[in-house]
Amino acid sequence: MCGIIGYTGNKQAAPILLNGLESLTYRGYDSAGIAVMGPGGLPQVYKKTGKLENLTASLNGNMPGGSTGIGHTRWATHGGPTDANAHPHMDCRGEVVVVHNGIVENYIALKRELVAEGHEFSSQTDSECISHLIERYLDDEFPLEESVRLAAREIRGANAVVAFSGREPDRIVGFRLGNAGGIVVGKDDEGGAILSSDLPALLPYGREVIYLSGGEMVSMAHGDAAFSTLEGDPIEKKSVHIPYSPLSASRGGYKHFMHKEIHEQPESVINALKGRISFDDLTVNLDEIANTAASVDEIKRVMFIGMGTSLHAAMLGRQWMETLARIPCEYDNSSEFRYRNPVLDEGTLVVSVCQSGETVDTLAAMELAAERGASQVTLCNYPGTQTTRIADDTLLVRAGLEIGVAASKTFMSSLVALYLLAVEFGVRRGVLGEEARRELIGELVRLPDLLGKMLLDEDRYMEIARRYGRRSDFLYLGRGLGFPLAMEGALKLKEISYIHAEGYPAGEMKHGPISLIDRQMPVVAIAPRDSLRDKMLSNINEVKARDGQIVGIITEGDEELAQRSDFTIAIPQASEALNPFLVSIPMQLIAYHLAVHRGCDVDQPRNLAKTVTVE
Ligand code: G6P
Repeated sequence: MCGIIGYTGNKQAAPILLNGLESLTYRGYDSAGIAVMGPGGLPQVYKKTGKLENLTASLNGNMPGGSTGIGHTRWATHGGPTDANAHPHMDCRGEVVVVHNGIVENYIALKRELVAEGHEFSSQTDSECISHLIERYLDDEFPLEESVRLAAREIRGANAVVAFSGREPDRIVGFRLGNAGGIVVGKDDEGGAILSSDLPALLPYGREVIYLSGGEMVSMAHGDAAFSTLEGDPIEKKSVHIPYSPLSASRGGYKHFMHKEIHEQPESVINALKGRISFDDLTVNLDEIANTAASVDEIKRVMFIGMGTSLHAAMLGRQWMETLARIPCEYDNSSEFRYRNPVLDEGTLVVSVCQSGETVDTLAAMELAAERGASQVTLCNYPGTQTTRIADDTLLVRAGLEIGVAASKTFMSSLVALYLLAVEFGVRRGVLGEEARRELIGELVRLPDLLGKMLLDEDRYMEIARRYGRRSDFLYLGRGLGFPLAMEGALKLKEISYIHAEGYPAGEMKHGPISLIDRQMPVVAIAPRDSLRDKMLSNINEVKARDGQIVGIITEGDEELAQRSDFTIAIPQASEALNPFLVSIPMQLIAYHLAVHRGCDVDQPRNLAKTVTVE
């Protein structure tokens, strides 16, 4: 949460900072600000409540000069979204400017100390105390880097901080404590160094980047970036090549990133399959999980974890692994798992799904699993991120950059990776014979084409939006593989259209939700042709008997279900294995078109952020 950017080089910093913030707004959009080094080493701060446009408008075309600066887009935690609370924050003597992501857990004690020493505060944030703290040390003996290091040692909690000072006008120093939002460092070809909390702001300048780990610092000046620990020991860090194009950080003719990303799914599925399956003999080859594969027979239990949409992917992964590899499997929400003292040992494999590689609860859950000796595979969209450093193996989902706050293509690509993982385990453990493997992979090969066809026409979704756009509640029902999709459909709807929605296993309906059903309640029934389709039909009949409105997600040609439904979306005929992938499209597009119809801000829904880096 919160987006950070910093640049020092030969170019005017302000446009670089503003462009960077533009591509980071999905991390927070309560307020935005930049600070650039002005003439005579005087930092100039510009900040505004609300979206980035407010800040840009307040500059009124007058871009400040200066070739070193930092910027921030905020997701408020401490102190409401006001101009004063917006970042960057400067100490009261005007020496040090900081931007911050995370929570300074001991800020009340620090603030008390600093106030007693004569520091005056101008905001209600925890962040401001960091600038005062750095300023406290800044002198000839402790230049910027050393002062930041001393300040960092006093701060508790998971935090990412970037600071600069007029004392060294070309230098920017950043550090990371624990698992707060990341800091990624890159360089441009013209003697500039740039850092950011995420890749979209860096990729226009180059695809070789370096991720900071907890307890590490970076000091950038004159086009160079030097890394050290918070104890002051220099460290060599290897760069990671990011295989994504900066072009994917633009909307490319679509009104919303989310819509573009939904349409990119056929391509991202191809990327997720490339090199991992052989189209000739339909074999699977997952070199990336070599560590796990070597001891696959020793795995006694697989635990799938994740948050939000990634949790729903994890739930599907658990079903596939159980069915195709016959290993006992469970799933849990990372934030629950980390605090429930789970039983974990060398026989447990933890599979985490975390597209960003930075979600704080998933990171903590993974650290716990590592401490207790479990082996781990993580699914992630970005090489080199924090989760990939904890896990024994990483299966990249290869979805390309995803900017829309509500996940779409990363969900689809995670499903592909989870499915391949389950098939690979099934084959290696001797559960799946050659014929079964050929059948499963043969079906998967059809997926990009089927998804492409499903995305050709969105009229039905616009019609749903017109019919049900004023309803205040939706129920999503599914069974088996349809249940996690019901959860995902309901989550998408809540996230972007602000309509209250619940996802339920259809069998649970009679234990409560049925009392809500009336003429006003649309019920999205996920009922593709599979072994549970007839059970879904019974549930649909129960809803109809109570005057509920059924939006049936059915397989094309299923006349019986079409007649029982008030409205249908048909997915193509395919094997049962492909249904979850295909059903994902209506889950996304129903939410998308309802949100557009209701005039909601699809890419930046209120109160949300794409990467949740605070608890
Ligand atoms: C946030 C995002 C969701 C995402 C979830 C987990 O809530 O808004 O779209 O699914 O975080 O993110 P992760 O990076 O762990 O997959």
